[in-house]
Amino acid sequence: MIKPDKLTKSYLFYREYHKQPGNVLVHKIFVPILLHTAFVLLASKDLHINATFGSDGASGHFQCDTTFAIPAFFIYFLYYLRLRVSLALLYLPVFYLLTLGLASFWLSHFEVSLVERLAFRIHIVSWIVQFISHKYSEHRRPALFKNLVQSLMFAPIFVFIETVFSLGMYSHLKSRLHRLERERTGGLQKMEKFLPKADNELFPHEVLHPALSQPEFRRITSRYVIRPLRQTDLTQDYLYLLDVLAAAKEKPSLYHYKDMFYDMKKRYEDTYFIIVAQDHETGVIVGTASLIIEHKFIRGLGTCGHIEDVVVHPQYQGQSLGKTLLTILIDLAKILDCYKVILDCDEENVEFYHKCGLKRAGAQMKLYLKQH
Ligand SMILES: CC(C)(COP(=O)(O)OP(=O)(O)OC[C@H]1O[C@@H](n2cnc3c(N)ncnc32)[C@H](O)[C@@H]1OP(=O)(O)O)[C@@H](O)C(=O)NCCC(=O)NCCS
Repeated sequence: MIKPDKLTKSYLFYREYHKQPGNVLVHKIFVPILLHTAFVLLASKDLHINATFGSDGASGHFQCDTTFAIPAFFIYFLYYLRLRVSLALLYLPVFYLLTLGLASFWLSHFEVSLVERLAFRIHIVSWIVQFISHKYSEHRRPALFKNLVQSLMFAPIFVFIETVFSLGMYSHLKSRLHRLERERTGGLQKMEKFLPKADNELFPHEVLHPALSQPEFRRITSRYVIRPLRQTDLTQDYLYLLDVLAAAKEKPSLYHYKDMFYDMKKRYEDTYFIIVAQDHETGVIVGTASLIIEHKFIRGLGTCGHIEDVVVHPQYQGQSLGKTLLTILIDLAKILDCYKVILDCDEENVEFYHKCGLKRAGAQMKLYLKQH
């Protein structure tokens, strides 16, 4: 395993919050704007430094009139030098232009109060865009809630690194960082290697084979693996997907998730059939749906299938993934000898379930017994 240095540690921390290409693109556009407008505001504020030193015999006086942008520039740049000297030097012309260069141009060519007002407004709008992008793209709060200083300092060079990578430069660093990223997020994939599949999966995947062999699913299954939930799926990607349905106020620990998984698998064997769709290329879990089996005394000891928690990652919606997951669960319910499947849903999803062959029936009643 490679030992991460300062650059890789910061990159991996920041990258964890910037995985979706859409969000990375938003950052490539708005982080330079944020940096630039922040420096315009700093450059518009004078900084007077007066210092007297020494004793009466040999005293000295130091005076410097500058702006807040100058120390900020050096603090940032020293931070980049500490990360990697060659990268910092490559970034220097762009960084200078975005910070001191263009800022002093605007302030010397236009009325200062106008430049300040504009910079402030653009700065605020850029933050709003970033927050929206995090919410809808990554489904999580930005990295700055975890580590404010590191996020603010690292964001500009992260955008530069990503741009440099997409231009094919620093390919060695790119493969090293991506390998480390895989090692970190792939802790579980490694674990998976050591776990027999049968222990890792909620139910035997062979149960799905008849349902999956239908030609109508070929288009989806060529891009996504549809399979039983694995205990090694109980990570951020999957849990954030569930947050689309209902975000828990307090997140249980991974230990409790795994405990629940084993209860579902062993204690309530043949009851919980949770399937997921995993992107072949990225390995990300992009959809899930659950079938819960209820054995009844009525209907000649009939079995009823309850469909729950159908969700597709917002960036993957509209590609028939939801319909495929649902149809596979309905086929599975047939295989498991259910005489019907039922589900509750919001009014806005009725049409989706109609398109999957279900019909409106009865009324839903509920009484919350606990706050969730
Ligand atoms: C509901 C959801 C699972 C649908 O997934 P999806 O992959 O986008 O849906 P599909 O692409 O498979 O859609 C299948 C069909 O239903 C239609 N459809 C999907 N969602 C719809 C909606 N909310 N209203 C009307 N039609 C809808 C699609 O247009 C498509 O129609 P077509 O076959 O004529 O082209 C997804 O939107 C989602 O995860 N929503 C948030 C979570 C949620 O509300 N889950 C339901 C809990 S009850």
